[in-house]
Amino acid sequence: MRWPGILAYFAEYLPVTAATPLLTLEEGNTPLIRSTSLEKRLGVGALFFKFEGMNPTGSFKDRGMVVAIAKAKEEGKEVVMCASTGNTSASAAAYARRAGLSCIVLIPQGKIALGKLSQALMHGARVLAVRGNFDDALRIVRFITANYPVALVNSINPYRIEGQKTAAFEVVEWLEGVPDILALPVGNAGNITAYWRGFKEFFERGKTRALPKMFGFQAEGACPLVLGKPVENPQTVATAIRIGNPASWKGAIAARDESGGLIDAVSDEEILLAQRMLAEEEGLFVEPASAASLAGIMKKAREGVFRGKETVVCILTGHGLKDPDIAVRQNEGKIEEVEPREEAVVELLGLGGERP
Ligand code: F0G
Repeated sequence: MRWPGILAYFAEYLPVTAATPLLTLEEGNTPLIRSTSLEKRLGVGALFFKFEGMNPTGSFKDRGMVVAIAKAKEEGKEVVMCASTGNTSASAAAYARRAGLSCIVLIPQGKIALGKLSQALMHGARVLAVRGNFDDALRIVRFITANYPVALVNSINPYRIEGQKTAAFEVVEWLEGVPDILALPVGNAGNITAYWRGFKEFFERGKTRALPKMFGFQAEGACPLVLGKPVENPQTVATAIRIGNPASWKGAIAARDESGGLIDAVSDEEILLAQRMLAEEEGLFVEPASAASLAGIMKKAREGVFRGKETVVCILTGHGLKDPDIAVRQNEGKIEEVEPREEAVVELLGLGGERP
């Protein structure tokens, strides 16, 4: 079957009416990839990676954005706006253009990954770099969209959460049940809220007889949900989740408590180590924030949380190409220069032996 995108495929679960345009860039239907090596070392029964970086703009944001933009179009809106650490702006810009709407994005100056910035610019969004952080940008966007004819497409727009919950549906359909543990990075906390809603909805409709435990992971320098209070000046190498006062705070806490799960913090070193392990051992290249899910599961494994039989799904929220700077910086000095001669390359590689 040809994949029709999430508005068409999951229409019965989404706010789709006869008037809703079936907008799509064929988002969703992302791979659920079984671990080959890390699963044994971590002492879990089975470890899967849901690679949301395979969405059309390279992150999970496309699932919610396609719904938010389709509804904005349906409601006759002409301009959409969001605050973003990068991925939301890339997705908003792409879907707005697809729907013939204009898009304004507010980003924290100097703190957004190059891949994401290039997307927003190429899709013709109006890009405003705020001399502040994400929380400042979101405050301004809330004010503007409340007072001017501009549609808000951050995840406080309920259509975003509706779209994002479809990732939980896919996990259930692909696994034919729920995992024991669903691990994901947490920034503004829309995604953990959306997954939990999706699992509960499938449970209520009898599509699964169990619910997973939700394990959310924040970066140590930006972990308001772990501290129980907003962080004034959030800092982390994982710029996507550099957020001090998550909009969906209550949703995240409810997901944690209702599921019997947890929200914990991982250090930047742990995040970058998990990012390298995913790339080197599993062949999966993700952006730093996405690696927080695996970093968290590695931390829990060290703490002896697992019993060797759990099924764990780590959500990999964004593609590694989003943030080429950090990837290259981590591998500094590894590129070897060579003269443009065959023998020079043979010698450098230490191939030796008879000359052909
Ligand atoms: N992973 C990535 C790659 C993200 O871009 C984000 C959020 C998250 C995880 C956290 O998800 O906010 O729902 O808890 N990025 C937003 C943005 C904030 O503007 O692109 P969350």
